[in-house]
Amino acid sequence: MDNIIDTNSGSSFVPVQPFEIIVFGGTGDLARRKLLPALYHRYRDGQISDDSKIISVSRSTYTVTEYHELITKYYHEYSNDDAFDTDLWLRFLKLVDYVKIDVLDSQNWSNLKTQVSSDKKLVRIFYLAMPPSMFANICLKLDELGLVSDSSRVVLEKPLGTDYKSALKINEGVGQVFDENNIYRIDHYLGKETVQNLLVLRFGNILLEPLWSNQAIDHIQITAAESIGVGGRGAYYDNAGALRDMVQNHLLQLLCLTAMEAPASLEADDVRAEKIKVLKALRNITIDDVNQKTIRGQYTSGSEENITFPDYLTDVDVSKSSTETYVAIKAEIENWRWAGVPIYLRTGKRMSTRRSEIVIQFKAVPHSIFGDTPVKPNKLVIRLQPDEAVKLWFEVKEPGAGGMRLKTLPLNLSYADNFTVRYPDAYERLLMDVVRGNLSLFMCRGEVESAWQWVDGIIDAWEHSDTPTDLYDAGTEGPGKAEDMLAKANHSWS
Ligand code: BG6
Repeated sequence: MDNIIDTNSGSSFVPVQPFEIIVFGGTGDLARRKLLPALYHRYRDGQISDDSKIISVSRSTYTVTEYHELITKYYHEYSNDDAFDTDLWLRFLKLVDYVKIDVLDSQNWSNLKTQVSSDKKLVRIFYLAMPPSMFANICLKLDELGLVSDSSRVVLEKPLGTDYKSALKINEGVGQVFDENNIYRIDHYLGKETVQNLLVLRFGNILLEPLWSNQAIDHIQITAAESIGVGGRGAYYDNAGALRDMVQNHLLQLLCLTAMEAPASLEADDVRAEKIKVLKALRNITIDDVNQKTIRGQYTSGSEENITFPDYLTDVDVSKSSTETYVAIKAEIENWRWAGVPIYLRTGKRMSTRRSEIVIQFKAVPHSIFGDTPVKPNKLVIRLQPDEAVKLWFEVKEPGAGGMRLKTLPLNLSYADNFTVRYPDAYERLLMDVVRGNLSLFMCRGEVESAWQWVDGIIDAWEHSDTPTDLYDAGTEGPGKAEDMLAKANHSWS
């Protein structure tokens, strides 16, 4: 198919074949904020044609017109679209249908059967934006109705389960209906431009590889800090916590992409095999070292620029909870490349700023020829969001008189300075990959299960440890103990 050049962004999009997508959870947070806007943007750029169909499913009673009004309202609420085109939006709405189904009630599913296409070859996508405990039952029901064929795919939202055992059960349940090659386990971090750039940075350049190991790297830091709180997702979040919500998936995926060996190709199987090796090499954290290697925190109230933020308990509307909204972990990979290199993971809500980045801290030069003048070790900072950039910090001679004075300065490859394209939201890229049948940016069963096995060790150790969750003020850098954990190894957060 011909590429379409989007005149606003300069990007070129390859149109995808017609498809139908059935979104379970069609009135939920994800559909409102991400999925429907993502589909509209791909439609707006000519990537989705008018003969595709979007069927939203939820248990609420709406006519199609009422549902259209609702998603129009949501779109304006959540999308910052200065160039909103009413005619185009109305054309997009013609693709969108609505079906009422209560998935817990086995009676009303026939409504869906009458709405889907009879074309058996059409790519049919079931997007399950629902609690994972319902995934297997929904899949079995779809199969029972004869809605699943070889060209059907299912998309599963994270977190997949709450531990290894529940993930196994979900994978087995869904696997009874869909082949592994038709299961798309989403981790939206993998759809982010800068996360994909990690692959290019590492495997499209020769310069870094000889230094990419314990020979030259002292330690690594992976941070995903958020300034927002738990928002309206308190009920989910209080059962999950930062470890399950962010570390088990997003942070471990970033760790894998940073630490894995070069895959033979970008094919899904090759990339996944390398990621699994990293996950399997993670050293277990146990009750014996959990207090030295993990810090849990929960935000209390705080204020910034005259705005006062409520504490976590108020946000989730409970009187007592030890759920962590912050976690810092000292991870270690037991293999030749990474032995002895701590990989610090950290994520938190209501921190001072929103910032996701990977910091590669190199070792100091083996011997300084500059006498007493301090020589700072090099540092590579991969800023994933916001202000996407790759910065390599160097020592340079400060010009002028006064002897050999060293200054630390960055080579700054900022996205904003080099690219003018609009970065599509991660969901836009990932949804189009599902239509194309490209699994490379989705997690396979083995990755999810291995990640849970490691995380389960931490959960278990926390349950058996009497160390309480630390408190930190909203709008700060998290609990002070996280600084102490690094200080013990003469490190500090970047
Ligand atoms: C989601 C988590 O997966 O990622 C949320 O459930 C979190 O709690 C979000 O806020 C962060 O995503 P992003 O793209 O804003 O970094």
